[in-house]
Amino acid sequence: MVKSSVVYECASCGAQYPKWAGKCEECGKWNTLVEEVQVGRRTKTAQTRGTGARLQNLNEIETKTMARLSTGIGELDRVLGEGLVLGEVCLMIGEPGIGKSTLLTQLSLNLERTVYVCGEESPGQVRLRIERMQKGKKAQNKEPKLKLLAETDVDVILTTIEKEDIALLIIDSVQTLYTADLPGMAGSVGQIRECTGRLIAYAKRKNVPIMLVGHVTKEGEMAGPKVLEHMVDAVLELTGDRYYDLRILRTQKNRFGATDEVGVFQMSETGMMEVTNPSQLFLAEREEGAIGSAVAVIMEGTRPVLVEVQALVVESELPVPRRVAQGVDARRVQILLGVLQKYTRLAVGSKDVFVKVTGGLSVKEPAIDLATVLAIASSVRGKALPKNAVAIGEVGLLGEIRSVGWEQKREKEAQKLGYTQIYSRSSHRKVGEIIQNW
Ligand code: TYD
Ligand code: MG
Repeated sequence: MVKSSVVYECASCGAQYPKWAGKCEECGKWNTLVEEVQVGRRTKTAQTRGTGARLQNLNEIETKTMARLSTGIGELDRVLGEGLVLGEVCLMIGEPGIGKSTLLTQLSLNLERTVYVCGEESPGQVRLRIERMQKGKKAQNKEPKLKLLAETDVDVILTTIEKEDIALLIIDSVQTLYTADLPGMAGSVGQIRECTGRLIAYAKRKNVPIMLVGHVTKEGEMAGPKVLEHMVDAVLELTGDRYYDLRILRTQKNRFGATDEVGVFQMSETGMMEVTNPSQLFLAEREEGAIGSAVAVIMEGTRPVLVEVQALVVESELPVPRRVAQGVDARRVQILLGVLQKYTRLAVGSKDVFVKVTGGLSVKEPAIDLATVLAIASSVRGKALPKNAVAIGEVGLLGEIRSVGWEQKREKEAQKLGYTQIYSRSSHRKVGEIIQNW
């Protein structure tokens, strides 16, 4: 028997209620409950339940090395873990305009036999994008082999591709899909969940990998049901600042690879360019020997990356001096200023302090502390740090320099790029020691 009934589901956490309410009791959010019609699943017959399933010993289970499909984009392959696994369903989320469609279009051009389902744009728009991306590239005699499908009914999509031999299915985006079996609108919690469920079943049955595009809300969360992230094999997040061309692809979840790999891209006229050496990009416009500038080594996934921290310290005209931070946590800057005030002879209490990480990068790691402190100290003293200096370390409340993870890896990367004066826990114990002696 297939039964359907109405429930109210929280669009944020997926909690279900028999009646509508203004607030979700589970996650505490307001106005998130939406009406969903549930199609009950056929229950198993008493007979199957009676026989039960079979327990397996470990050695009875066959293991196959998973076949992988290279995307032809090195940075994307690395984030996925050497490419897509056949049958893998991967969700790529990110703010509108960040470059999801661009990246996936490139991917579809690299592979043969790709089907690109464009629910957001017309096929004409996709074609224009492809032509724009191929402009300026060396004579492309190869015609792209991808096929476009302008359809949003998931059942029509699946019927259309059922008999096709395809290597990759791209759905742009999951919020535009719907099935006529459910009454909700495309983009509602129930629709997204059911459509994705049907696509996953197809991927596993046919061993075809699927890339799904998902939008995020203003708060940076995937719009739609939270459960979606549990249903798919991998969740990749494309981030970046719309005023900069840097784009970073991070893994939120990956059943077939590590979650700490990060892909770095630069948005260009002709698509997303891979950045294989991000340090060069971040230090490209750095003025050597500038006052108020320090170089830090941060970790982007498992890769050490050199970035520039800039500080500007000026006499304040306000009763409460301003402290503005871009790319680093403003509260951490406050703490570091307290440390400078107490443990060094630099008076920063009455000064406006502005700190910025260049390149539009946002750094959450405490390993950037020491560079932040040194950039501020450099601005206060009006003296540049040595040209070949980098700073690696967290700064404690007692003014001590603390060691951070992957220190050797960071040092090696710095040395490789010619930064031989390394300030860290190994070279100094207290920030004051560095500030007095350079
Ligand atoms: P898009 O991939 O459509 O974003 P999303 O699918 O995440 O919403 O990217 C849109 C922006 O990227 C748009 O502002 C134009 C710009 N863009 C480039 O800078 N270069 C390119 O080659 C392409 C195709 C787009
Ligand atoms: Mg798009």
